[in-house]
Amino acid sequence: KKVLFVASEAVPFIKTGGLADVVGSLPKCFNKEEYDVRVIIPKYTCISEEYKNMMEYKAHFYMDLAWRRQYVGILGLEYEGIQFYFIDNEYYLGGVKPYGNAYEDIEKFAFFSKAALSALPVIGFQPDIVHCHDWQTGLIPVFLKDRFHEGEFFSNMKSIMTIHNLKFQGKWDYETVMDITGLPEYYFAPDKLEAYGDANFLKGGIVYADAVTTVSSSYAEEIKSPFYGESLDGLMRARSNVLSGIVNGIDYEEYDPATDTYITQNYNAINFRKEKIKNKRALQQELGLEVNDKKFMVGIVSRLTDQKGLDLIECVMDDLCALDLQLVVLGTGDEKYENMFRHYDWKYNDKVSANIFYSEAMSHKIYASCDAFLMPSLFEPCGLSQLMSLRYGTVPIVRETGGLKDTVEPYDQHNNSGTGFSFTNYNAHEMLDIIKYALHVYTNRKREWNKIIDRGMAADFSWNTSARKYEELYNRL
Ligand code: ADP
Ligand code: GLC
Repeated sequence: KKVLFVASEAVPFIKTGGLADVVGSLPKCFNKEEYDVRVIIPKYTCISEEYKNMMEYKAHFYMDLAWRRQYVGILGLEYEGIQFYFIDNEYYLGGVKPYGNAYEDIEKFAFFSKAALSALPVIGFQPDIVHCHDWQTGLIPVFLKDRFHEGEFFSNMKSIMTIHNLKFQGKWDYETVMDITGLPEYYFAPDKLEAYGDANFLKGGIVYADAVTTVSSSYAEEIKSPFYGESLDGLMRARSNVLSGIVNGIDYEEYDPATDTYITQNYNAINFRKEKIKNKRALQQELGLEVNDKKFMVGIVSRLTDQKGLDLIECVMDDLCALDLQLVVLGTGDEKYENMFRHYDWKYNDKVSANIFYSEAMSHKIYASCDAFLMPSLFEPCGLSQLMSLRYGTVPIVRETGGLKDTVEPYDQHNNSGTGFSFTNYNAHEMLDIIKYALHVYTNRKREWNKIIDRGMAADFSWNTSARKYEELYNRL
């Protein structure tokens, strides 16, 4: 079977969040004998030179988008056994970041989606299945159903829409979108592309795809309810016969404490008791925190947005800092949260380290050095950071929502079970209580604590199981 992934980001080329991790790592995990999986992403000008220099020109053509006639370049690169294609166009993709303002992005990804399909006959790749990821590619199932690209070439292609985050839908007034896409007015009705008066790219994808998936079973259920449904819960209920949840994995070669080159000391599930601590000392030193083996070091690596539950942390920050712990934060995002952490770094200089930037290296050091990892999300389609923490023997403390609920088993002292700590309600004091409990176990029951780590490191969150589930889905279509 031939499968095409289409997405707005993929590691190692361009990444703003977990979507890139998934699109860059999942294709490597299919059975190569049976599945030819290739990936198309935009060739943003902001991709690093290192990768741009490796890409090879394949072809180009011109495509109409509303009143513009646009250049579409196609570049190719085989990377770690996977064929990647990159759509090139300086006008749309020349920004300093992959995403810009809302309208820019609407036109950019309408262009990209149309160009990705139009490129297929040119490169001579005819997939059985086009696997679309998030709103940026939501128009693709619509284009395919519309037989927009006439003729045999596209007529048997099936599509899958995977929702990594329902909050981002790609909405704009429908007259403009009609104009940009050339789709007839027929599509801009509430049972099709339109939602609440706007054209909605993700809705189009959900309505027209042959199958819809999201990145954990719990999130697949949650989005059928108004609280998590982002105003599309009715649609999610209507599509529940084709909707399923397949939990994400992580790249076990990239995220492996035994071979990771970013960290000070490599370790594994057998020797972490002695070796992991060397990473903590090195990070304490690097960040100017007190170098002390006994300090309970809690890490956060996150986009700093409301989704991630940071207002809970803000609410009890003084109480948290009254505890015997260190808090290490790495993230960028909303200014209010960036400044909040900077403020507490200043106020509790010996306890809080706010690192308001993006760094792959620092993220690995945090996963490898901390004792616990805090992720109290308001909602979480899957979450990868908690999986990385588990893999690195860093105990996750999470709110029981979406993928966090599906991947972190709460510690139960009576049954000797569990891989982390969790709380249920979106409540700052509930979170604080569970952090205190974790600190208590860490301080007074070290052997128990280490057994939690044993179980976490033994859990399997590689792509093995989930890649088989995608294969089954491909076969079913
Ligand atoms: P989301 O996709 O919602 O941001 P995930 O947990 O699925 O959340 O994925 C987040 C990914 O982004 C992880 O790989 C995490 O390590 C990474 N990440 C987030 N913020 C930063 C940062 N400031 N520096 C480096 N990596 C980061
Ligand atoms: C989104 C979600 C996150 C998920 C990631 C990859 O960014 O917020 O929970 O892990 O996509 O699927």
